[in-house]
Amino acid sequence: MELFVKLARIWILALFICFDLAVVEGDKVGILPRCSWTGIYNFGDSNSDTGGISATFTPVLSPYGMTFFKKPVGRLSDGRLLLDFLVEYIGLPYVSAYLDTINTNYRHGANFATGGSTIRRQNLTILQGGISPFSLDIQTIQFTQFKARIIDLWSSNQPVADKSQLQRPDDFSKALFTMDIGQNDLSVGFRTLNKQQLHAKIPDIINNLTISIQQLYEQGARSFWIHNTGPVGCLPVATFNVKNPKPGYLDQYGCIRYQNNIAMEFNKYLKARVIRLRSELTDAAITYVDMYTAKYKLISNTKEYGFKDHLNICCGHHENDVHIFCGRKGIVNGTRVLGDACANPATYVSWDGVHMTEAANRWVANHVLDGSLSDPPIPATHACYKNL
Ligand SMILES: *[C@@H]1O[C@H](CO)[C@@H](O)[C@H](O)[C@H]1NC(C)=O
Ligand SMILES: *[C@@H]1O[C@H](CO)[C@@H](O)[C@H](O)[C@H]1NC(C)=O
Ligand SMILES: *[C@@H]1O[C@H](CO)[C@@H](O)[C@H](O)[C@H]1NC(C)=O
Repeated sequence: MELFVKLARIWILALFICFDLAVVEGDKVGILPRCSWTGIYNFGDSNSDTGGISATFTPVLSPYGMTFFKKPVGRLSDGRLLLDFLVEYIGLPYVSAYLDTINTNYRHGANFATGGSTIRRQNLTILQGGISPFSLDIQTIQFTQFKARIIDLWSSNQPVADKSQLQRPDDFSKALFTMDIGQNDLSVGFRTLNKQQLHAKIPDIINNLTISIQQLYEQGARSFWIHNTGPVGCLPVATFNVKNPKPGYLDQYGCIRYQNNIAMEFNKYLKARVIRLRSELTDAAITYVDMYTAKYKLISNTKEYGFKDHLNICCGHHENDVHIFCGRKGIVNGTRVLGDACANPATYVSWDGVHMTEAANRWVANHVLDGSLSDPPIPATHACYKNL
């Protein structure tokens, strides 16, 4: 009896503490000024490439970009990416790709992401499977060089043509550092490893991501916004090749179950590691953003949110076993076919079978930028505050 009363007291106390914290947290975000971000440095793959792979290898073709930019701009969508909605939300201009050389502006940061990037280096060239040579460790080295050279320019007495297009040296640590990478490490794993082998590799992959975060911290980065990976098993291109699946191979939305399970396992490790990193990188505010849940929520409720079934793709041509990728030409049964776009991309989740449409990116942005799927649950405008 006494024990029961004690437990009940503890429970009631706990309830009050939680309630208190929740109120304080909400209040704090409400009264704290927005972070005064000086820029954004992004690391990742095609989910956030704003022109890197296009500038370095072959340009992204029309009809990419048709909805928003009205021409191809190196983004693998019909319009804006989540990263674009993020910079709009925090009040910064669109971020130039570090590898681009024409009409770029690095006053408010740079984007090191390239389509096909992985966390770990791959033993493949871009011509074999589209894997970018700019893995996360290389992107981190690029940032290090970028920062060192800018500091050198500002500190030297030599006349410099134009510093207005470059970040100011003191501003690096007041920038937001964002990461969206890992999906391609899993895709390569699906092609080259069995489930057990890939499963066993996850801690190593996360370890390499952690190394980059630590290196950026050593370079002065203090605010991190880390995306987890999406439901890769739901990519239409992955499901096209599934013939006569065994019962249970696909989930109720037609996604490849084991691939999504691996993605969730990756995310579990990533989240645990991010939480541990907070005690190791004591001056950093590190936000973990649950992209998986946002994307899966959209995929599993497409009708409710005004989209067609998520396995339909807007751009590209798929007939029997032939797939002509968005913007490319091919021959189906002796007839030339163009992988062109649907009339209304806004009703599709998938733009090209791999990447989402601008409309889907906007939907996801509306569900993650306010912090409701983040740990801790703070909006991107306030991701510079730690221990809220
Ligand atoms: C990944 O981490 C391992 C140590 O676990 C290290 O030896 C390797 O060089 C790293 N690779 C990349 C690409 O960062
Ligand atoms: C890369 O792959 C080739 C061909 O499979 C192989 O001969 C080579 O040893 C591999 N290199 C590394 C570093 O794994
Ligand atoms: C090509 O045409 C033949 C007969 O007309 C048909 O059976 C086959 O499915 C077609 N293949 C494709 C890829 O459309």
